[in-house]
Amino acid sequence: MSVEALPSPVRTGFPTGFVWGTATAAYQIEGAAAEDGRTASIWDTFSRTPGKVRNGDTGDIAADHYHRYREDVALMAGLGLGAYRFSLAWPRIVPGGRGPVNEAGLDFYDRLVDELLGAGISPVATLYHWDLPQELEDAGGWTNRDTAYRFAEYAAVAARRLGDRIPTWTTLNEPWCSAFLGYGSGVHAPGRTDPADALAAHHHLLLAHGLGTAALRAELPAGSEVSLTLNLAAVRPLSGSPADLDAARRIDGLANRIFLDPVFHGRYPADVLADTAAVTDWSFVHDGDLAEISRPIDSLGINYYTPTVVGADDPDAPAARQDGHAGELSPWPADRGVRFLPADGSRTAMGWPVDADGLYELLTRLRDDLPGLPLLITENGAAYDDYCDPSGAVKDPERIAYLHRHLNAVRRAIEDGAPVRGYFLWSLLDNFEWAYGYGKRFGIVHVDFASQRRTPKASAHWYAEVVRTGELPA
Ligand code: NOJ
Repeated sequence: MSVEALPSPVRTGFPTGFVWGTATAAYQIEGAAAEDGRTASIWDTFSRTPGKVRNGDTGDIAADHYHRYREDVALMAGLGLGAYRFSLAWPRIVPGGRGPVNEAGLDFYDRLVDELLGAGISPVATLYHWDLPQELEDAGGWTNRDTAYRFAEYAAVAARRLGDRIPTWTTLNEPWCSAFLGYGSGVHAPGRTDPADALAAHHHLLLAHGLGTAALRAELPAGSEVSLTLNLAAVRPLSGSPADLDAARRIDGLANRIFLDPVFHGRYPADVLADTAAVTDWSFVHDGDLAEISRPIDSLGINYYTPTVVGADDPDAPAARQDGHAGELSPWPADRGVRFLPADGSRTAMGWPVDADGLYELLTRLRDDLPGLPLLITENGAAYDDYCDPSGAVKDPERIAYLHRHLNAVRRAIEDGAPVRGYFLWSLLDNFEWAYGYGKRFGIVHVDFASQRRTPKASAHWYAEVVRTGELPA
C-alpha cells in the first residue's frame, strides 16, 4: 500500500496543556473473562454464537491486560503519555447487572488507577463500552427502561470507589453503535434486528446517560468532569441535488441530531420523529426524560475514523455500501431511499477511506453548534495489516500518515476556534475488534496474541515524539 504525500509541510504546534493519550476498552483487551467474579456480557454470548465474529474469536483472553496492566502502563509511561482512556467492565463490578457489588472486580480498577497515577498518567474512565451484563439483556437489554436505572446504580458504585482518583468520567461510548448495530443491523451484540427496538434502545441509552450523570455528580468530588462519547458522522451529500441533500439531512438526523438535540437541547428533532414515524410512535419517551437526558455535562468526546457520504437511492446504481460502522446505518426502514458511498482516498484495513477533512468539518460544526463546550477526541486511529519483521520491528508508515493527517486536521480546527482539549489515539494495543475479531490491528503497540508479547510499532515512536514536542513533524 502506498503512503500518500503528507499535508502542509509547516511545523505545527498544539496548545500548552493539550492532553495526549491513548484509548482502549475492557472487553477488547482485558481477557480474564471468568476471573474474580466477572459474569458474562452480551459480547461473551455474541462472540460464542457461530457466524457472528470472524474466525470465532472471543474476548476470553484478548490482550490479557487484566494480568499485564503493569507492563501496559509502563509502555504508556515510556511513550510519555499524559492520559489513558479505558473502560470499566460492568459485569466485573456488578455481576449480573444488578444486586451485590463485586469487590474483587473493583479491586482490579483500583490497582490499574493507582498504577496509572504512579506513572503520572491521568485516568479517563468510560462506564459503558458495550459489555452489557447478559442477565440484563435476558430481561430486554436496552429495550427495557429498567436497564437505564441499573446503569445509574452501577455508575454510583464505580464513582464511590474510584472517584477520588479518576478526574474524568464518560457515561457511554458510541451509543449509536449500541443501539443501531446492536438492535438494528444486528452486527454487534446482542444481534437483534428490529428497527423499533433500535430506537427504544437509543432512548434508554440516553436515559442511562442522564441518570448516570446525576449519579456521578452525587458521588464525585467537586471539580470532577462528566462526559459522553459519540461517534458523530461527518455527513456529506453526494451532490447538491435536492434528493441528495435530503438524504444527507436524514442521515444527519439519525446519526447526529438524534443525540445532540436531546443531550444539549432537551428535545428530539421533529424531522427525525417524522422520518421514523412508520417504525415507532416514540411512546417509550416518558415525561421528564428529556430533562434528565439534557443535564449539563463538562465536555463531549468525539470518535472519528472516516466520513459518511450519502446520496438518494438510485435503483440503477450498483450497491456501493461502505464497509464498517460508517456504512452500517442501513438496515432499518427510516433509511430507505438512502445509499452510502465510499469517500475518495486510500483505505485502511477496515476498508474505511482516509479523509481527515471530515474530522475538521465535524469539529468546526460543533464549535458553531455547541459554543464553548470543550471537545475531546476520544478515539481516532486506523487498522493496518501490521506484522513483526525478521528484525523484530513493526513498520507502519500508513498509520503514521493517517495520524499525521488527522492531527493536522485537529490542529487546524483548534486554530479556527474549535475548543479541542485533548486527543486519545485508538488504540494503545492491538485488540479484539468486535465482529472482526483479532484480524484488525488498531494498536500502536503490536500484540502477538500467541505469546502476548508487546512490540511498539514505528507509529508509537512517532506519536511519542509528537507528545514530547507538542508539534507535528514537518
Ligand atoms: C469505535 C469503538 O469505540 C472501538 O471499540 C472500536 O474498536 C473502534 N471504533 C474501531 O472500530
